[in-house]
Amino acid sequence: MTTVNRQIKLASRPVGLPKVSDFQLAYSALPPLKPGEVLVKSLYLSLDPHLRRRMNPAEPADNERDSPPIDVGDVLAGEAVAVVLKSEHPQFRAGEAVEGMLGWQEYAVARGRELRKIDASLAPISTALGVLGLPGLTAYFGLLEVSQPKPGETLVVSGAAGAVGMLVGQIAKIHGCRVVGVVGSDAKVAWLIAELGFDAAFNYKAPGDYGAVLDELCPDGVDIYFDIVGGAISEAVVAKLNDGARITVCGQVSQYNLTEPEPGRGWLEHLIAKEAKVQGFRVAAFAPQFPAALKQLTRWLKEGELKYFEDVAQGIEAAPQAFIGMLQGKKLGKQLVQLSTSS
Ligand SMILES: NC(=O)c1ccc[n+]([C@@H]2O[C@H](COP(=O)([O-])OP(=O)(O)OC[C@H]3O[C@@H](n4cnc5c(N)ncnc54)[C@H](OP(=O)(O)O)[C@@H]3O)[C@@H](O)[C@H]2O)c1
Repeated sequence: MTTVNRQIKLASRPVGLPKVSDFQLAYSALPPLKPGEVLVKSLYLSLDPHLRRRMNPAEPADNERDSPPIDVGDVLAGEAVAVVLKSEHPQFRAGEAVEGMLGWQEYAVARGRELRKIDASLAPISTALGVLGLPGLTAYFGLLEVSQPKPGETLVVSGAAGAVGMLVGQIAKIHGCRVVGVVGSDAKVAWLIAELGFDAAFNYKAPGDYGAVLDELCPDGVDIYFDIVGGAISEAVVAKLNDGARITVCGQVSQYNLTEPEPGRGWLEHLIAKEAKVQGFRVAAFAPQFPAALKQLTRWLKEGELKYFEDVAQGIEAAPQAFIGMLQGKKLGKQLVQLSTSS
């Protein structure tokens, strides 16, 4: 077995959109296993836009509970699905499929409690990073517990062709909502409507006034805004809220590469007259309910109620460019990197 571990480390803190030179390919030896530890070989790596935030230095307002900044020289953080090669933990055996925060590297040594076993008979194991993983759980709890959709309501979701957004829209359809997506290309608009059953969608990069487009696509106003990107799109949607509307703040992707904060847009004002609610959430807060939610997501997947799409780059050295492309919207669905085809 090879003992060289190829890793991607943070070479320098990006300014604005990251560059490939902000990342560095490094080689390390694998440490010996201690009791309670498991050696795994990663098969798929998940890329999450939130990592961009963690590449910045710490700011006083940061909530570091889940995501402290990554230091220059550190291996970048990311979830992966992997196969167990060797175990010093009584609950794991060689050959089992697992998922965990294993980082941008081909091999990892993890403590048993940091790993979740995957039932490879349910679906392809890569789905443990998407529809049957954190993105699926985020869509599930963010929509059903936080947004609380009712049949007949209109939901707008931004970042709608992404890992979380594509699932939010479909679960809202299962619950009888009219669903409108906001995405960055005409091809994504067509895909959401033709393939995922969204009622409507629009391309925020096309010329025109967001307010006029929303009036046309949401003739009955907006009851739920599932916010993944923030910024000007959010400002426009919030102006169309109905009485008692809910805003679920999941991510703020449009802000992650900014070098200067956007000037205040004053959109909170709209919440007052509409008595609307805005709520941020962390999917981790729902951890005790994950097993039940995963059963439901698996059922919908098997029954064909949920579809998913993965954009898969090849090899650890492709991860930086895939990450940069993901931040620019140059992918569809969940962005993964395949690190190995075999165990
Ligand atoms: N709250 C939680 O517990 C929780 C849990 C998991 C994830 N999240 C967050 O949810 C968000 C979505 O994650 P994801 O994995 O599903 O990402 P994703 O949507 O698959 O990827 C990000 C997408 O955002 C869009 N985008 C980029 N810049 C934009 C801009 N300036 N304006 C509008 N859209 C822009 C791009 O697509 P376009 O082509 O459409 O522009 C891009 O592909 C992230 O912020 C993530 O950290 C939160």
